[in-house]
Formats: sequence, structure tokens, C-alpha cells
Amino acid sequence: MSMPKLQVALDTDDLPTAINVARQVVDVVDVVEAGTLLIYQEGMKAVKSLRALAPDKILLADCKTADAGGHVGHVCKEAGADWMTCICAATTPTMANAQKEIEVQVELYGNWTEEQAQEWLDNGIHQVVYHQSRDAKFAGQTWGEHDLNEVKKLIDMGFKVSVTGGVKPDVLKLFNGVDVYTFIAGRAITQAKDPHAAAQEFKDEINCIWS
Ligand code: 5RP
Repeated sequence: MSMPKLQVALDTDDLPTAINVARQVVDVVDVVEAGTLLIYQEGMKAVKSLRALAPDKILLADCKTADAGGHVGHVCKEAGADWMTCICAATTPTMANAQKEIEVQVELYGNWTEEQAQEWLDNGIHQVVYHQSRDAKFAGQTWGEHDLNEVKKLIDMGFKVSVTGGVKPDVLKLFNGVDVYTFIAGRAITQAKDPHAAAQEFKDEINCIWS
């Protein structure tokens, strides 16, 4: 079992704030994410700037693409991203066309089936993001056994599974002994008084549980 990676999700409303946080945590995290909300505000300029700031890190463009996968994949790659996201409601051809350009993560929200997931695998897509939505969390959703079982099921199918959605360090122990690919933390780091210390707390917890 390998050590889960740590990804910082930069969902800030402007690029200077994202860069300010990224500078503080880049030495701790494994993956830097240009968040969906940041991309809405700043477009691919955000991806380009984060690539310049973190040349040696994996860079994700979290564009949650629903269509025109090949085109969006090309744009993300040109901007310097290593990975991009497609929403699980996209058709498999959209995902497969994106995957021809850049590594795709399928973002799991709402309804999806095991049959669809198998089709993604059959089309060369090996990453999924198991996501508790921000709005579901506002409505009171918490992390628990159901999530653990879904994540394990996806890993058993052969996916690299990232886990996200209001994740705080104390959530990680739920996944003890599970081969989670990446934990993605946004607000727990970006809104912390000391983002570097917050990122380090995640990293220490990962090291403690998985080593
Ligand atoms: C929102 C996202 C976020 O990047 C992800 O949920 C992590 O952020 P947070 O830890 O703040 O929930 O994909 O669409």
C-alpha cells in the first residue's frame, strides 16, 4: 500500500489569494489544484500561474468538464496541468477524448452506477474522485461507513481513488488501512490562520496512519 498523497484545492475567488496560499504550502503538498471556483473567476490563467509557482508538483485543473473533452483536455494541458476532472454525468466518449490529451479524474457526484464505472475503466480512465459535495455538507452530511465502503468498492474495481469534500485531518482515520490515492483538502487549508501548519497537520496524520 502506498502513502496517500496530499492535494490542496485552491478554490479561492481570485488568483492573488490562491498564489499566496500555494506559496505557503507548496513544500508540503504533493498535488496543487486550480479549483473549480478559481477557474470560474480566473480561467486558465490560474492554471498557468500555479504551474509557474510549482513546476515540480502534480497540477490538477478541476474544471469538472461535461462536454468537449478533447478540446478542454488540450486547453488544460497547454496551460500546464497534468490532470483534469470530468463530471461523472459526462458521456464516456467525452471522458475518453479528454484522456487522449491529459490524465482524467472522474468526479463522482449524485448518481452513477458500477456499470458506468466499469465502462470508464474499459476506456482507460483509472482515476476517480469520491466527493461529498459542499452543499450536501451544508445540509449536514458527514463522513462515515457508507463512504468507506464506496471508496473500497472503487479501489477493488481497480481505480485510484481520491477523497474530498470538507475533509479535515480527523476524517482520515476512517480510511485507515485503505489504499486511498489522494486526500484533497480545500478550506481546511486555504481558510486556516496558518495554511502551512494546516497542510503539515494533514501530512503528519497521513504519515502517522499509513506508515
Ligand atoms: C469543490 C471542490 C473542492 O475542491 C473540494 O471539495 C475540496 O474543497 P473543500 O475541502 O473546501 O471541500 O471540488 O467543487
